[in-house]
This record gives sequence, structure tokens and C-alpha cells, in this order.
Amino acid sequence: MAMTSNLRTELIERAQGVRSNAYAPYSEYAVGAALLTNTGKIFTGVNVENASYPLSMCAERNSIFKAVSEGERQFDMIVVATHNGGSPCGACRQVLAEFGLETRVMTVDADGEVVLDMTVRELLPEAFRPEDLG
Ligand code: THU
Repeated sequence: MAMTSNLRTELIERAQGVRSNAYAPYSEYAVGAALLTNTGKIFTGVNVENASYPLSMCAERNSIFKAVSEGERQFDMIVVATHNGGSPCGACRQVLAEFGLETRVMTVDADGEVVLDMTVRELLPEAFRPEDLG
């Protein structure tokens, strides 16, 4: 999937748009994600918290699990929108790494400014991967 600037803008808008659906009454840190598959589909996700705090799920993983549930396993890019462009957590990096190290990860702040733009390989060096199971 060629990454046009239109597509990049659409991903940023989708991540920012879905962010209002975040269920984050405890942290009040709303996160929206938009994941682009190699087939050109976009899957969004938000963080969903729980009164039993550890059960909360990140926006990135929700978007990945939605995509995988629909038969998608190759991801070109994920855009993560927060108020400050915060970085994806380690657990989400690991889940992204399962499906490919070249996925591009971009974070944007409330103004749509790009704060981080890296690959999964760069974000999670020496990742534990399926082939390590031998
Ligand atoms: N969160 C995400 O959704 N993605 C991240 O990469 C960082 C953290 C969520 C989890 C929790 O609901 C809130 O942000 C504060 O940690």
C-alpha cells in the first residue's frame, strides 16, 4: 500500500476522530488509534478502561484485534492520537511486532502534529517474535 499524504491525513483524522469514543474515566487519558492494513482497510480502536484497572485495554491493541478478527494480518501503519502525542506502551509494541517489524507507528497530538514517526523495529529492538519459539 503506497503511503500517500492523503492516506496519512485520513489516518490522522480517523485516529483523532475516534478518540472521543475512548472509555477512560479513571486515567482520563483518551487514546484513539487508526490502523492501515496492506489491503487498504482502516481499523480504529480506543482505550477501554475498567473499574478493575488491570483489565483495561489500549487503543492500539483494540484496533489490531479488530483487524485480525476480520482476517487482516499485515499492517502498513498505525496512527495513535492523544492530547500530547504519547508513545505506545511496551505491550502494544509487542503485539505490533507479532505481525511485522516494518509497520510504521506515528503519534499525533491534539493539533494533529506528528510527535513520533518510527517503525516497530525501531520502537522494539530485538523483539521476541514467533520464530523465536523455534
Ligand atoms: N493507553 C493506550 O491506549 N495506549 C498506549 O499506548 C498508552 C496507554 C491507555 C491505557 C490507559 O487506558 C490509559 O491510556 C492510561 O495509561
